[in-house]
Amino acid sequence: MSFEAILHLIKNEMGLSPETVGVETVKRIVERRMQAVGEKSVASYCRLVECSADEKQALFNEVSVPETWFFRDHEPFKVLSAYVKKLDLGERPLNVLSIPCSSGEEPYSIAMVLNDAGFNKDQFRIDAVDISTEVIKKARKGVYGNNSFRGKDIVYRKKYFEHHDGKYIISDDIKSTVKFHNSSVLADGFMRGKGPYDVVFCRNLLIYFDYETKCKVLSTLHGLMSKKALLILGHAETGRMPEGLFESLHLPGSFAYHKAGISVSKRSKSASVIASAISFSSSAKKPSKPVVATVAVKKTQAVEAVAPTVKSEAEWIDSIQSLADKGQLKEAITECDSLIEAVPDSAQGYYLKGVVLLAFDADVDATATFKKAVYLDPNNYQSLIHLAVLSEELGELRAAENYRARAERLRKNAQDSVG
Ligand SMILES: C[S@@+](CC[C@H](N)C(=O)[O-])C[C@H]1O[C@@H](n2cnc3c(N)ncnc32)[C@H](O)[C@@H]1O
Repeated sequence: MSFEAILHLIKNEMGLSPETVGVETVKRIVERRMQAVGEKSVASYCRLVECSADEKQALFNEVSVPETWFFRDHEPFKVLSAYVKKLDLGERPLNVLSIPCSSGEEPYSIAMVLNDAGFNKDQFRIDAVDISTEVIKKARKGVYGNNSFRGKDIVYRKKYFEHHDGKYIISDDIKSTVKFHNSSVLADGFMRGKGPYDVVFCRNLLIYFDYETKCKVLSTLHGLMSKKALLILGHAETGRMPEGLFESLHLPGSFAYHKAGISVSKRSKSASVIASAISFSSSAKKPSKPVVATVAVKKTQAVEAVAPTVKSEAEWIDSIQSLADKGQLKEAITECDSLIEAVPDSAQGYYLKGVVLLAFDADVDATATFKKAVYLDPNNYQSLIHLAVLSEELGELRAAENYRARAERLRKNAQDSVG
């Protein structure tokens, strides 16, 4: 076995291509491992890897990039919360898969969200999987340092952790809901018999894979998911998706998917999807400029007969959301038009109208509407993401990349400013 064979092994069993890990990085890791086990030549170390499962595992542990933290990216957890509140599971528990789970921050965050959404610990189960035995060991302990908590939102830390000797110890209740497994997502029969899962988190893994491996993994996950399951990917991983497996839910960030045939065919009826998208935008940015609203009055009516009412942009957004919640999508569009007529520079009005238009499968109109939102507010993240997804669907990959890059820059800037 040669050094090239090590690269092959990493590609075949972990899925990581040499370009993404870096050949020089692997060389350094191999040198470190040779020192650790006292092997003098690369050839003899390679032979050891070939015959020792423990050394192969030690190599994989070193190659793995375990960077993670609680409530990473925030939005996926808001989507999860909205999604599970609307599910009707009958008596059976909610089944969740977190792959890769690294040191446990992601699956434990999921458990906290479910607990906050009213699920007691017998009403859900989470399987959390990672190829590295090191991170699984840490995850099972459930003891974390400051680095696992980033950003300012640490309410959950007070609620679910005990602080002891500078470390944060996760509550036993949360810990007991997560079952950790050591496996590669590429292993034969991955999690066979454990599904079907209602929710799958697969974030910050596919970025390391080439397209072929990404397709293979998504196909495996597809086979493990229930019919209406929710798939959450990482922000940077949604780019090119395999044909026919999943459909974007068109939520801001575009990281949420359903199995193909579920969301698109029901898009026009799926008020919940729109409502969650809108609740995002309204919680993210609620302008409150008061405006005089005579626009609700039909043009054929005598305007002077109706006293103008003062309505803030935020109130309009609330009312659009409430209409979408009730499935009154035509009324929601009318309300968006009213908002736009009263506040012609309302980027948010255009954005919301775009989201509702998507529910009618009116992709061309939605695209034009999102473009107006971006024209009025070049920092309208959600519209940029929708434009990226719509361009991808049209095969306009260069435009899609452009929109996604702009959105990614905004996201990074926002993240940096939160710290
Ligand atoms: C950056 S972490 C992502 C953790 C978490 N999902 C998040 O987004 O914060 C990447 C993890 O992928 C794991 N990993 C790499 N290849 C894998 C494979 N083929 N199967 C399962 N886990 C893998 C690594 O061990 C590492 O812990």
